Amino acid sequence: MIKQAIIPLAGLGTRLLPLTSVFAKELLPINGKPGIEYILDECIDAGIREIIFIISKKKEMIKKYFYNDKFYKEIIKKKKDPQILREYKKILRYKKMIKFVYQNKPLGTGDAVLKTKKFIKDNFFLMLLPDDLIVKENCSKAMIKIHKSHKSSVMASMTVNKKNVSRWGIFKLKKKLNKNNYVIDDVIEKPSIQKAPSNKAVIGRYILPKSIFQILLKQKPGKGGEIHITDAVRYLIKHKKKFIAHNFSGKYLDCGTMRGYIKSSNEISKL
Ligand code: G1P
Repeated sequence: MIKQAIIPLAGLGTRLLPLTSVFAKELLPINGKPGIEYILDECIDAGIREIIFIISKKKEMIKKYFYNDKFYKEIIKKKKDPQILREYKKILRYKKMIKFVYQNKPLGTGDAVLKTKKFIKDNFFLMLLPDDLIVKENCSKAMIKIHKSHKSSVMASMTVNKKNVSRWGIFKLKKKLNKNNYVIDDVIEKPSIQKAPSNKAVIGRYILPKSIFQILLKQKPGKGGEIHITDAVRYLIKHKKKFIAHNFSGKYLDCGTMRGYIKSSNEISKL
């Protein structure tokens, strides 16, 4: 079973400036609810019991959101509003599941994963990138099911426009397992159009093996001087570890860009 999930949250969110100059992007409301709560709800519904947030000193606001007990208790005492009590209980439920670790230098997603090394107990764990919202279908749940039957790692995949391949990690696929699942032959972080082996992109849901920590410990910085999770996955694939690409059936919302962020509220309000 996959019981632990990790969520990298230390990114600066420069694509959402000026909002992110004072605000953590993951707390920005999407149709009235902070983006991070959609991610947490996806985890809970997929059977995850513990979630590790990788934050930074600059993103302490995220911790505060879940640790504002004094404020809630005072206001509940004063106002006796059942709605506020419900909201507080919801926050408490999330809080019970969350552990915080710090990544104070933005050295990449691979480096963020490494910060969780001592907390991961089982052989596999889930990672969700909070910029990527997937609605209508629980992508993590579907991936956990695939992991169970194939005993392998799994990554979410989506077909993208050829001209945008350099925005994503891109897969080379080896063989089709069934309608929505493929064995991965290779994966390249943000390749040029010329070097892209396909137009199947990595989307931010990963079921990773614990063995990835040993690879990350030795890994040299890649594209843009960052430690990429994609490069560690690539190494594992080259060393015969099985990774499956899952073409998810939910709707993808890119909340990491201003255009996508605005669109996502609109899309969710129509659900
Ligand atoms: C990260 C990964 C990339 C993946 C993308 C999905 O990139 O490095 O491989 O395709 O997430 O959203 P980022 O969005 O952090 O630039």
